[in-house]
Amino acid sequence: MTRPQVLTTRAALQEALAPARRSGAKVALVPTMGALHAGHASLLREARARAGAGPVVVSVFVNPLQFAPGEDLDRYPRTLEADLEVCAAEGADLVFAPSVAEVYPGGPDPDPVTGMTTVVPGPLAERLEGRTRPTHFRGVLTVVAKLLGLVRPDVAVFGEKDYQQLVLVRRMVLDLCLGVDVVGAPTVREPDGLALSSRNRFLDAEQREAATALPRTLHAAVGEAPYGLRAALDAARAELRASPGVDLDYLEIAGPDLEPLPEDPAAGTPCRVLIAARVGSTRLIDNLPAVLGTPSERSG
Ligand code: PAF
Repeated sequence: MTRPQVLTTRAALQEALAPARRSGAKVALVPTMGALHAGHASLLREARARAGAGPVVVSVFVNPLQFAPGEDLDRYPRTLEADLEVCAAEGADLVFAPSVAEVYPGGPDPDPVTGMTTVVPGPLAERLEGRTRPTHFRGVLTVVAKLLGLVRPDVAVFGEKDYQQLVLVRRMVLDLCLGVDVVGAPTVREPDGLALSSRNRFLDAEQREAATALPRTLHAAVGEAPYGLRAALDAARAELRASPGVDLDYLEIAGPDLEPLPEDPAAGTPCRVLIAARVGSTRLIDNLPAVLGTPSERSG
């Protein structure tokens, strides 16, 4: 198991990538905020498979620009030594772990007069997560654009767990002609269905038990989806009502690109069921794909 090379400056990253650029080898990037778990490991495996003999680059950077004041920037786990073990086990070659000053030389706080360029996402960023986190995706897209510019990968791998993020990154790459293949990798779950997340470590035993309501709610919706949108939402809401300790933020069913669905979608419409909820002081999100049928299926 070879330890990856750890790079903390943009210059060192360019130097480490030079051989791949010269040889035309494929480069794969996995952007992360560290605190790597088995979900990230699956992203690294996907990147390893896609890069072939070329380098897999993992960025480990807790991006202040995507946290609003009062969110969990300060308590976000920082575990670089353990992250390097995961990267080594999955065959990553380079770990880019820069300081905030290296990524934001003028500081991450955009000055209203002289401030840096940031990426303004489209209106999709205002829905779902954007309702409680209105500046979040501007921060995410800005740092992802920077990382894509620094690494210039052929492929970038993101987890489907942050589904709205994945859709918005795809859209940015398309709209800004960034020329990278964006790959979404399926969510990895605990045996009881809870999606792996760096924030799960904040849950105590009782909250950890309560958090299983999120995947149960999604499965309730997916199970009733063959009988239409309304049936799917009703089943999900009934599951939530029976689940104590979960403070719902949103439960929505949207199209695969998160476009709003008509009230009565045609049978066979693919969709995504999405949920966000607070369990104690920890905010969790999850989603699952489904295919909608119509109410007539039940009698037919
Ligand atoms: O999903 C994450 O960990 C972050 O939002 C990302 C994509 C690394 C940007 O900071």
